[in-house]
Amino acid sequence: MKVAVLVSGNGSNLQALIEDGITVDAVVSNVPGARALERAEAAGIATAVFDAADYPSREARDTALADWLNSRGIALVVLAGYMHILADAFVQRFSGRILNVHPSLLPSFPGAHAVADALAHGVRWTGATVHVVTSELAAPDTGPIVLQEPVALRHDDTVESLHRRIQAAEHNLLPRAVRLFLEGRVALAPGTRRMIVDVPEDLSGEE
Ligand code: GAR
Repeated sequence: MKVAVLVSGNGSNLQALIEDGITVDAVVSNVPGARALERAEAAGIATAVFDAADYPSREARDTALADWLNSRGIALVVLAGYMHILADAFVQRFSGRILNVHPSLLPSFPGAHAVADALAHGVRWTGATVHVVTSELAAPDTGPIVLQEPVALRHDDTVESLHRRIQAAEHNLLPRAVRLFLEGRVALAPGTRRMIVDVPEDLSGEE
């Protein structure tokens, strides 16, 4: 199953996938010159930029992006710090085959400022989530959850210090989640939004 990673910025999650030994077949950014593109090139991975400024609409850009991914035989799309909402038509074309890593324990704190929002709310715990992407326009960050890891807040945390610890959790979770998909070890429980994940810890609490 060929894997593409969509990025917008630094690319530390992309780096975690590469260092875990996952074969990444393509890296796409909506931001020209993103550090993540340099990381991909250093690893010998094909890259492309789909900049919204070059297209008349989000739909046109995402159609071109989906066509490009299809032409390369991509079956799994991983959003790793991709900070643009994908058009519904894109999500439907890759239905059930798009993963996103998000810096909170969803469904708390969806959106683009999850770390700052958790800090401002004063929660004692936040964390990282990897989930399947469903309709982003209607409800961003709400698709079925594959893996989560909690992170405790410290009294002197800043957005930066908290985000650093959350990212350590992300770098652990994202490669595991991608492997689960590649190995066919996750499935949606019929008639629910619950993912059945074939890992020992998922069985805890069962009789
Ligand atoms: C990650 O922390 C990811 O969870 C977040 O952007 C960061 C990208 O870091 N994504 C979102 O907030 C999406 N709503 P990276 O470029 O170093 O992987």
